[in-house]
Amino acid sequence: MVKRQAGVTEAQIAVHWKEEDYFPPSAKFIGQANAADPGILERFSEEHFPECFKEYADLLTWDKYWHTTLDTSNAPFWKWFVGGRLNACYNCVDRHLAKNRNKAAFIWVPEPEEEEDRVITYQELYVQVNEFAALLRDFCGLKTGDRVTFHMPMLPELSVSMLACARLGIIHSQVFGGFSGQACGDRIIDSGSHVLVTMDAYYRNGSLIDHKAKADEAVARAESEGVHVDKVLIWRRYPQQYSSPTPLVEDRDFIVNDLLKDYTGKRIAPVSMPAEAPLFLMYTSGTTASPKGCQHSTGGYLAYVAGTSKYYQDIHPEDTYWCLADIGWITGHSYIVYGPLALCATSVMYEGVPTYPDAGRPWRVAERLDVNIFHTAPTTIRMLRKAGPGEPAKYNYHFKHMTTVGEPIEPEVWRWYYAAVGKGEAVIVDTWWQTENGGFLGSTLPALHPMKPGSCGPGVLGIYPIVYDEKGNEVEAGSGTAGNICIRNPWPGIFQTIWGDPDRFVEIYFAKYCKNRESKNWQDWPYLAGDGAMQAADGYLRILGRVDDVINVAGHRLGTKELESACLTVEEVVEAAAVPVLDEIRGRAVEIYVALQPSVDPSDEIQQKVTAAIEKTIGKIARPKNVWIVPDMPKTRSGKIMRRVLAGISNFTDPGDTMTLANSEIVEDVRQHVQSEKIARGDAPKELTDEEREELAKFGQES
Ligand code: WTA
Repeated sequence: MVKRQAGVTEAQIAVHWKEEDYFPPSAKFIGQANAADPGILERFSEEHFPECFKEYADLLTWDKYWHTTLDTSNAPFWKWFVGGRLNACYNCVDRHLAKNRNKAAFIWVPEPEEEEDRVITYQELYVQVNEFAALLRDFCGLKTGDRVTFHMPMLPELSVSMLACARLGIIHSQVFGGFSGQACGDRIIDSGSHVLVTMDAYYRNGSLIDHKAKADEAVARAESEGVHVDKVLIWRRYPQQYSSPTPLVEDRDFIVNDLLKDYTGKRIAPVSMPAEAPLFLMYTSGTTASPKGCQHSTGGYLAYVAGTSKYYQDIHPEDTYWCLADIGWITGHSYIVYGPLALCATSVMYEGVPTYPDAGRPWRVAERLDVNIFHTAPTTIRMLRKAGPGEPAKYNYHFKHMTTVGEPIEPEVWRWYYAAVGKGEAVIVDTWWQTENGGFLGSTLPALHPMKPGSCGPGVLGIYPIVYDEKGNEVEAGSGTAGNICIRNPWPGIFQTIWGDPDRFVEIYFAKYCKNRESKNWQDWPYLAGDGAMQAADGYLRILGRVDDVINVAGHRLGTKELESACLTVEEVVEAAAVPVLDEIRGRAVEIYVALQPSVDPSDEIQQKVTAAIEKTIGKIARPKNVWIVPDMPKTRSGKIMRRVLAGISNFTDPGDTMTLANSEIVEDVRQHVQSEKIARGDAPKELTDEEREELAKFGQES
C-alpha cells in the first residue's frame, strides 16, 4: 500500500517509478560523435548564457552579423541575434551548391513498394525552389510577410514549397495532411492566408486518397468566416496525370505542374530577412480549444535546429538520416527539413504508413538505403512491435543512432527499441520538447551521457530546467516528487508569440511563475511547459505527460503514463491507456484500456495480470476498477492516444469531437462493448453533477 507522503500537496503528482539502469553509449559511437568532448557542457553552462548560442548561430551563413545575442527589453517576447540578417532557404540550399550540388538532399520513398524512390539533389532542389518561388511571387503576387497555408501530404513538393516561401520571406503554415478540410479552413482563417497549396492525392495504407476534396471544404469553411482564398495551387502526385475525382474550380484552382512551365529556369534572389522575422506558423494539435499558431523566427529557430541536429542527432555529411515523422508536425519541420538541410545532410522522406504493407517495411527501407540514423515516436515503435516484434532481426541494416520523441516512452518499449530495432548497437536519444519550442529541450548528449529507459535525460545544451510545485517552490532533484516543469531561460528556438494573440502567449506560458510582470530580466520569466516531471538525483528528467492528464484517486495524483508503463510490463499488452472514473468511495478511480499482441486472445487472466502489475509497481490505491481489452486505441493523427475519448466512454459522458481522430470508427465499437458491460453489471454511473461533469471534461484537454 502506498502511503501519502507527508507534506505532499494536492498539486504534486505522486511518483512510483523505479529507477532504471544506465546504458552507456558504445566506444564506436563515441569515437565518431560530433560532441564527444565534455568541454561542450562547460561552454553551454549558465555562466556563458546567452553568448553560448553564438556557437549555434555560427553554423549558419549570415548576410549581416548580429550585434546583440539576446534582447530582453520586451519580455517575454525575446529577440535573438538582433541586427543580423539571413535567408533560411539560402542556408538550406544555395550555400551547399559549391561543394555538394550533386549530393542527395532528399530521398523520397513512395508508399507503394513497386514505385521507385525519387532522389533530389541539392542542385535539383535549388532549381525547383527557385521556379516555385517565381510562381508564388509573379503568379500569386505574394510578398514578404504574407501567409500561405499548405495542406500537403509527405511528398518532396512540400519541402520545395516551404523553402520557396522561406526564400521570399513569406510565412508558411503547413497543416498536417491527415487533418480534415474543416481543420485546414480554421487555420486558414486564423492566419489570414489567401493562397492554399495542396496536392491532388496521396497514398495511405494502400489506397490513393482524394486530397483535393479537402481543399474545397477548407476554402468553403474560410469563406463562411469571411476569409477569401483566391488561389488554390495543386501539385500532382503523379506529375503527368491528375489523380483526384474532384473537379477543379475555374479561376481558383491551378495545377502547379502546368503553371511551372512558364517559370522554367527562373532564378529568384533570396530575400535577406532580419533574424527575428517570422519563418513559419505551426498550429498546435489542439483538438478542442482553438488552435494556437506558434510563430517561429528565422535566425533563432534555424540556428537552434542546426545546432541540435548536429549535436543531438549526430548528423555527419556521410550519414543517411531518416525521420519517420510527418512534416505536418514540428518534428518534421525541424528534423526532416530545416535542421538536416542546414547541415547539408541527406534526409529520407516516406509517404505512407510505417506498417504498410507489413511490419518489415521500415527495416527493408533502412537496409536498402543503408539508413544509419533513425528517428520516430513511441506510438510507431509500439505499432511496429505489435505487428512484428521479431521483424528487425530479419534485415541487414545497422543504426548508429535512434531517436524517440512525442510522448514518454514506457521502459519496456524502450528496451525493445534498443535491443530489437537498434540491435544493441545504436544509442537512443529520448528527446522531450514541444511545438512551441522549435527544437529539443531535454535529452542526453549521445556520446557524453548514458541512457536511462523512460527518462529523457538532463536539459539540453543551454537549457536550464526547473521543477516547481504549485506555489512556486523548487522541487529538488532527487526528492522523488514531481511538479510542473519549467525552463528558466529563453533559448533561440522558442516561438515568438501565438499568432494574433500575444496576451494568450503570456498567460499560458509565463504568467504562472512570473515574479514581476514589469521585469526585463529573463530570470523572472520561467517558461511553463505544461508537463508534469520529476528530476532524479542525477539531474535526469522523467516526463509524466501533460499535467491535465493526471488522475486524482483519494487525493493522490497519479500520472497516466506511469500507470500505462506498469500495464506494459505484462508481456501480452502492447498499448495501454489510463483514465479516471467516478467512484463512490474513492471519488475517482482508475480504469484501464489495453490492446494486446495480435496473436493473443483476450482473457480474464490478462486482465488480472494487468491489475497485479499496477498494484505491484504503484500500489493498491491505483487498483483499476476495470481493465478493458480493446482491439485498438482511439488516436490522434499524430499517434497520441486520446484518453479524453476513453474517459467519456467510461463515464458515460460526451467523448467530445472524434472527427479528428485517425481511427474514429473504433470509438463506437469500444463504447458499445464497455457501456453494455457496465450496464449489465449495474456499474453505470448515476446522473453526474455539473461539477463532476466539468472536472471530467478537463481530463485530457489541451489549453
Ligand atoms: C510530450 C512534439 C515525454 C509532452 C515534439 C509535450 C514528450 C508534448 C516527449 C508536446 C518525450 C514530447 N518524453 N513526453 N520525449 N516528447 N512529449 O507539441 O507532453 O506535438 O508537452 O511536440 O508531447 O507535443 P508536440
